[in-house]
Amino acid sequence: MKRQKIVIANWKMNLTVPESTIVLEKYLKEIKAEQTEVVVCPSMIDIYSAEKSLAGTDLKVGAQNVHFEDTGAYTGEISPDQLKGFVQYCIVGHSERRSHFGETDKVVAKKAAACVRHGITPIVCVGENLHEHMDGLTKLVVAGQVEASLADLVAKEVAEIVIAYEPIWAIGSGHVDTPKDAAQIIKNIRNLVKVLYGEKVSEAVRIIYGGSVSEKNVSGFLTEEGIDGYLVATASLDPVAFAKIVNTVEKKTASRVIHSRITKRKPNKKAEEKKKPSRKAKK
Ligand code: PGA
Repeated sequence: MKRQKIVIANWKMNLTVPESTIVLEKYLKEIKAEQTEVVVCPSMIDIYSAEKSLAGTDLKVGAQNVHFEDTGAYTGEISPDQLKGFVQYCIVGHSERRSHFGETDKVVAKKAAACVRHGITPIVCVGENLHEHMDGLTKLVVAGQVEASLADLVAKEVAEIVIAYEPIWAIGSGHVDTPKDAAQIIKNIRNLVKVLYGEKVSEAVRIIYGGSVSEKNVSGFLTEEGIDGYLVATASLDPVAFAKIVNTVEKKTASRVIHSRITKRKPNKKAEEKKKPSRKAKK
């Protein structure tokens, strides 16, 4: 199954409204993407203006967080009901939400389900910390997070979400994971999804990598199979760098599409006939 590549910008708690408008204008000027889906996740205050700036363009807006209830006495929170219509995606369970705000897999699962209920695609983040990584626990930790964070979704919903594998030690550190290791963990996640939700779902769900992705290292990931895109924070604040990342992914995707068109082209029977030596020539 062909999964569309996706590149997501996570601005975190950066950029004022006027700054975000300028960055988006630069994105629109620099990004050349027809096959690759591009999503920008600004901070809450920038969402309204971002949605206006990007209306009618191919770039989509996502949120960085959401509450799982639709309304209520949750000072400072925002609900999926309030976000819908302004965003198509929402990051849930980012490691910074898990570590600074105590979000558990249970909470992440509720948030993912709340997004789906409101037609917002959750980008569910998982990833091990440095100790777990050093102790060889990555596979186990990530499997536990995936299973528990998707627990409130049914199979056909899982098929439509995005899972972001982000090793915590790679986030904002400049220590990017090796493409080979990232691809292996992503393969493990896909196998787990197959066990839990079936082969069709595992073939459909998009699983991406995040953690110090830059315009300099992204091409290294593109030779690996099964990585469906990238979640980019630091580099996304520089529109030229972010556009380079997207355009690099796009070029690779476009060349793959052309290649598969060439290899899959049906043989032209008339041309084949012409090529055959005539009986006369055989004599
Ligand atoms: P980074 O962060 O690109 O700055 O490493 C990724 C993320 O936090 O999603």
